Amino acid sequence: MVSCPRRIAVVPRYVRSVLVLLLLTACSGGGGQGADGAAGVGDPYFPKSGNGGYDVTHYGLTLAYDPEGAPALTASAAITARAGQDLDSFHLDLKGLDVKEVTVEGTRADWSRSGQELKVRPAHPLDKGETFRVTVAYSGTPRPISDPDGSTEGWLRTADGALALGEPVGSMAWFPGNHHPSDKASYDIAVTVPKDLTAVSNGEPAGERTTGSRRTFTWHTREPMASYLATLAIGRYTVTRSTTKDGLPVYVAVDPSQKSASREVLARLPEVMDWARLNFGPYPFSSTGAIVDRPEDAGYALETQNRPVFPGAPDTATLVHEIAHQWFGDSVTPRTWRDMWLNESFATYAEWLWEEDEGGATAEETFTDLYDNGEDDYPDLWDFPPGDPPTAADISSDPVYQRGAMIIHRIRRTVGDDTFYDLVQGWTATHRHGTADTDDFTAYVEKQAPDEDFDEIEEIWDDWLYGKGKPELP
Ligand code: TRP
Ligand code: ZN
Repeated sequence: MVSCPRRIAVVPRYVRSVLVLLLLTACSGGGGQGADGAAGVGDPYFPKSGNGGYDVTHYGLTLAYDPEGAPALTASAAITARAGQDLDSFHLDLKGLDVKEVTVEGTRADWSRSGQELKVRPAHPLDKGETFRVTVAYSGTPRPISDPDGSTEGWLRTADGALALGEPVGSMAWFPGNHHPSDKASYDIAVTVPKDLTAVSNGEPAGERTTGSRRTFTWHTREPMASYLATLAIGRYTVTRSTTKDGLPVYVAVDPSQKSASREVLARLPEVMDWARLNFGPYPFSSTGAIVDRPEDAGYALETQNRPVFPGAPDTATLVHEIAHQWFGDSVTPRTWRDMWLNESFATYAEWLWEEDEGGATAEETFTDLYDNGEDDYPDLWDFPPGDPPTAADISSDPVYQRGAMIIHRIRRTVGDDTFYDLVQGWTATHRHGTADTDDFTAYVEKQAPDEDFDEIEEIWDDWLYGKGKPELP
């Protein structure tokens, strides 16, 4: 059997993409005679994330959370999955918390834990192709997780409750699963909280009921979602339900302390949605909205599916950025964390386009200014190419965002506006609700771009996407 390396960094990139593919296959499938599902999918930056041998189709999470409780969280997860190989055992990712019981197909299963790996050995082995149901009963006090880049995610306590944020590896702090963006699933999340609190999650509300001193909120996410985009916000919120003029439900939850500061920008959400549809193609989800918590509740905004989370009232650019992610990241999801630039380049470029359309700086001016003086604001701008961040700590740094957006602008300038917007909308349509990697993107652009632009496109990949240092302009 092939051993699964922690990182594949020392081989050239064209060899590497082949290697990664081989390892993704080897490390996630065909575990030899043992028929054990692998403990990771072979992500080049987060090798333990996700698990081999199965694909989740649905998460049913039933959570009871009381910030004052001990334990604070009592929960069960019902996971429906399909075996991609024969399985004597398989893994789930779960960090912290106490597991009480695991069942597979209704029968108690053996399990063991090591770090973030919950290894499950069903009483009866699973056959390749079989759809099966796992339940995990667990409880405890969920904790934050520190990222390689120093940011904090997972389960964050807030003044009035909690906020769950999952990028890139935070979701294992509150539910067991196949926590890698390559495996998307639908979700039903039921959350019981003390009745003076509200629980907001992804998707659409599917019922609310009060029993004694507690209240249960149910949320249904019908479109596939990567687990890093799952969120849960528990606390005191002012919830506003409305619909856009073409009938899309809007659910906005705002911490009362942020109400007046966020009123104006949130009023522009329908306009931002219309603008994004015009540029990026049909909206992929069944509702939209936002969650605005207090500034101290999180260190960053996040594009949680359907309704992004903002720490404090966002500015318009940040709202545009997180809404753009609904197309780039949430609907078209990176297949590994190496493909992160596909998320952030487009979300950042969306900010440039918005500014251009609002009559501010044109994208060309933003590009030129960054090219000439970018290091003033982004000292790391030329440190590494977006297609090849050196370590997991770099997947959210300046080259991925700013230099990534510069790549999108270079493509636009090369092919012209008409082809560019066709290309962008074709990309979101082709991979809608799926996953895609950088090779998919470069191949797609090469196929769609006019033949006469081919050489210039190749140069963009060589110099801007994968090249070291500051590229020359043609
Ligand atoms: N994706 C977020 C945004 O730009 C930023 C972010 C938050 C992030 N946590 C992260 C990026 C972890 C990479 C890794 O909207
Ligand atoms: Zn972003």
